[in-house]
Amino acid sequence: MSQETNEPRSASGAASPAVPATEPDATATASATADAPAPEAQEIVFDRVVKNYPGADTPAVDELSLTVPAGEICVLLGPSGSGKTTALMMVNRLTEPTRGDIRIGGRSIRDMDPIELRRSIGYVIQQVGLFPHLSIADNVATVPKVLGWDRGRTKRRVAELLDLVGLPVAEYGKRYPAQLSGGQQQRVGIARALAADPPVMLMDEPFGALDPITRERVQDEFLALHERIRKTVIFVSHDIDEAVKMGDRIAVLRQGGRLAQYDTPHTLLKEPADAFVARFVGADRGLKRLTLIRLADLELAAPDGAAQDAAADEAARLPSLPRDASLRSALSLMIAEGTDALRVTGPEGQVVGTATLDAVRKAGAA
Ligand SMILES: Nc1ncnc2c1ncn2[C@@H]1O[C@H](COP(=O)(O)OP(=O)(O)OP(=O)(O)O)[C@@H](O)[C@H]1O
Ligand SMILES: [Mg+2]
Repeated sequence: MSQETNEPRSASGAASPAVPATEPDATATASATADAPAPEAQEIVFDRVVKNYPGADTPAVDELSLTVPAGEICVLLGPSGSGKTTALMMVNRLTEPTRGDIRIGGRSIRDMDPIELRRSIGYVIQQVGLFPHLSIADNVATVPKVLGWDRGRTKRRVAELLDLVGLPVAEYGKRYPAQLSGGQQQRVGIARALAADPPVMLMDEPFGALDPITRERVQDEFLALHERIRKTVIFVSHDIDEAVKMGDRIAVLRQGGRLAQYDTPHTLLKEPADAFVARFVGADRGLKRLTLIRLADLELAAPDGAAQDAAADEAARLPSLPRDASLRSALSLMIAEGTDALRVTGPEGQVVGTATLDAVRKAGAA
């Protein structure tokens, strides 16, 4: 992970309270056995979950049923007020379901002690919420300290985590949140949530306050991290592009906390269940779907036999892209260059084939 030097500071950064005053361990993330191997990722099941806030006419969450397989990232996507935060907060019992059940690894949350439960779940709140008066290292050490880890172990874990999110402790550990960029603060929030290796992470618009470029980088970093640490993640967003990028599955919620569709990004974009979902995913859903397909997924035309020289000459005039580029990038480049094909290159920059506009179109329609 790269260091950032020029990021804008998030407005919410230093001044925001870390957690609601009435919920002292809202960011608690630890399990009591963190010296043991990391706990396995666990399946999360919402079983006809309803939340009625007192005095409200309509439910905030209404009969929500969905299963998040262990180790996957599920994005809760929907407009403001559609119940995303409420759904998330019911998982760690920051708010109690009115009806229905949530099971983590097969166990009902109703049978778990709320404090224990919160310590076993990493929680990144909507506004980053670092403790402004604590150093970065002390922020990350919050939960290990609550759990009574000794100093040596806590220190090792903090160093390891800050390293993992690309903020080496020697350089950043002693700083305060206000002395970090917005993107760096968000990474500290993630490190803190990971402190005791929770099998489950809840992330409420964790990158919401970032400018688009920083956001994209932090998203990439989190995806790379997730590849390595494989947790079950529920990730709230109201941004379809973020959802498509981050989610193994996407749950689209509509007003009143009703589930409109739960599918893979590919299916959601290809077959929106109704007009609401179609509108929410956008008229450019065909193009968005192209971001999910790599050039490497295409059958590439390769020059062969007698045609090779002519083909090589032809290819030399074509623009090129690495094979892990998306079909959307490929299409964009073809349009910009006015060509109907491009060369596809491998890891050493060698040409591995030619992608045609026709092949891109066919793959997009598949
Ligand atoms: N503590 C509360 N008491 C009463 N109503 C609440 C409370 N918290 C949320 N609500 C209501 O529940 C509904 C869902 O709110 P929630 O915060 O879950 O939405 P959200 O999808 O996270 O929205 P956003 O994208 O704006 O964060 C809204 O109508 C909201 O006004
Ligand atoms: Mg919310």
